[in-house]
Amino acid sequence: MKKPHQALHTVLKAACATVATVAFTGLVAANTAHAADASNGKVLADAHNCAACHGPNLNKPVSPEYPKLAGQHADYVYWALRQYQMGTSNPHLGRNNPIMQAQVQSLSQSDMKDLAAYIQSLDGDLVQKK
Ligand code: HEC
Repeated sequence: MKKPHQALHTVLKAACATVATVAFTGLVAANTAHAADASNGKVLADAHNCAACHGPNLNKPVSPEYPKLAGQHADYVYWALRQYQMGTSNPHLGRNNPIMQAQVQSLSQSDMKDLAAYIQSLDGDLVQKK
């Protein structure tokens, strides 16, 4: 017969293992739920006509207030798109540019990830000046 504190220890260990397994499974599920698909990103970019402002291959904006996108890191692009979607509903995190807010309203999370993967895959003129 185990002493009470040993039994409790065993129960706690089992409980911790279960929590860790559930948390790990959840993480894996979240990560594999959607692997960004750059080719679908291109389909979306064409359908939404992003090039009308950001230029051919999203690299030659039609005017200086439209940023170059080609080659930008996907993480940054995805977050920027999310920020336009939040808009003024989140004054701390949202970006309140009305032009881009209009562009992203119909996009899902996975659409934005796909667009971001596509944008990162493009050759661009973005440079670091040293
Ligand atoms: C009508 C013109 C227009 C269209 C169409 C357009 N954009 Fe933009 N985009 C802009 C402007 C203007 C900005 C800069 C807004 C600002 O100052 O926040 C911008 C900014 C961005 C940024 C932020 C870049 C950065 O460096 O922070 C991303 C990302 C972006 N656009 C992606 C897209 C995508 C993807 C599409 C197509 C779904 C698209 N845009 C369509 C005008 C446009």
